[in-house]
Formats: sequence, C-alpha cells, structure tokens
Amino acid sequence: MTFISVKPGTLLSPTPVVMVSCATVTQRPNIITVAWAGTVNSDPPMLSVSIRPDRHSHDIIRDSGEFVVNLVNRELLKACDLCGVRSGREYDKFSLCGLAPVPVSGLSSAPAIAQSPAYLACRVKETLSLGSHTMFLGEIVIMGIEETLMDAAGKIDFHKAGLVAYSHGEYAGLTEPLGFFGFSVARPEVIRRRMRK
Ligand SMILES: Cc1cc2nc3c(=O)[nH]c(=O)nc-3n(C[C@H](O)[C@H](O)[C@H](O)COP(=O)(O)O)c2cc1C
Repeated sequence: MTFISVKPGTLLSPTPVVMVSCATVTQRPNIITVAWAGTVNSDPPMLSVSIRPDRHSHDIIRDSGEFVVNLVNRELLKACDLCGVRSGREYDKFSLCGLAPVPVSGLSSAPAIAQSPAYLACRVKETLSLGSHTMFLGEIVIMGIEETLMDAAGKIDFHKAGLVAYSHGEYAGLTEPLGFFGFSVARPEVIRRRMRK
C-alpha cells in the first residue's frame, strides 16, 4: 500500500446505523437515527451512543436517563433515514413513519419500536461531553428479539434479520457470510459445515 496522509476525521467504517427511541414521562416518544454507536463492554453489557447537544433527543435522554437502541433492517430503512432528517421538535416521528411504540419492562418511559427486529434497552451510566457530541454510555438492562429470528435452541439467526450498516453517507445491506470467528484456525470440516449454512 502507498498511503497518502489526510487530516483526521470520522473515517471508521462501516458503522452500525440504529434508531434510538426515547421519551420522558411528559414528552412524547421520539426516535433519532444514530450512526455513532458501538459496543463498549461485555459484562455488564454496555454500549454508547453519541448525540449532538442540539438534537431534540439529547435532552430527552439526558433527563430520562434511558434510551432504547433498535436495530434496523431493510424494511425499516426508509423510516430510519426519515428519523435522521426530521426533528421530534416538529414531528411525531412514530406517526410520521407509521411505527408503534412498545413499552419496555424495567424502563420508565423510553419505548422500543414494534417493527424493529431487535432492541437493546439501556439505562444511562455515564454522560461524557466530548466536543461536538455527548456520549451516553448505557448499560443494557433488557433486550427484545423478534421471535421468528430465534431457533428452538434460543440461538439468534441474524442472517434472517436483513440488517443494514452505514458507510460514509450510504446504507448497505450485509452480504453472505465471508467467514466466522476463528475460521482462520478452524479445521477444514468445521469450515465446510459452518460456511454451508
Ligand atoms: C444515517 C444517519 C446517521 C446519523 N447519526 C447521528 C449520530 O450518530 N449522532 C447525532 O447526533 N445525529 C445523527 N444523525 C442526525 C440525527 O438523526 C438528526 O439530526 C435527527 O433529525 C435528530 O432528531 P431529533 O431532533 O428528533 O433528536 C444521523 C442522521 C442520519 C441520517
């Protein structure tokens, strides 16, 4: 490779793109589309979402101390984009997108999105002002998975979910599996069995 130096920026790619739902006891539920999101800890399970202070959702999450990360599939993608270009200050985004809020057990106000294939409900553990964005570190307190994505053994089949990622201004579907955790050292018969699926 011959590298050209460029000024630092948010090149990391692909990122997830998720719909973060939130509410307070007095404010209607809202949805914000977030690409600056990531897993940050396994035990306890935690993730982060970074949100600009001028977003309507910012103060809702700050005040309620909770939010729900809803995964996005192909069917939800148009609504996901719409929730990223319209503000809850002017629009009821659940109605605008034809989505239904679902109460989440253990949270006081933030609902999940009924049409999402899976959600991760979070309580805010830390709030960090980083500059352009505020990073909310959330502990995942409960998750919901669409039942048709789970097999009899309780294993989640994410291939069925049709999840979408984000890369530099564009949304992209996931392709067929190209490998699996540890395939570089797996025995040939394991590779054959796992890659046939
Ligand atoms: C693909 C995509 C990714 C986005 N990622 C973020 C993000 O990570 N953080 C953020 O603050 N805004 C992000 N936005 C912008 C907000 O979703 C957008 O400003 C939204 O209208 C804010 O809604 P609200 O004012 O109802 O909170 C993203 C928008 C799109 C379309």
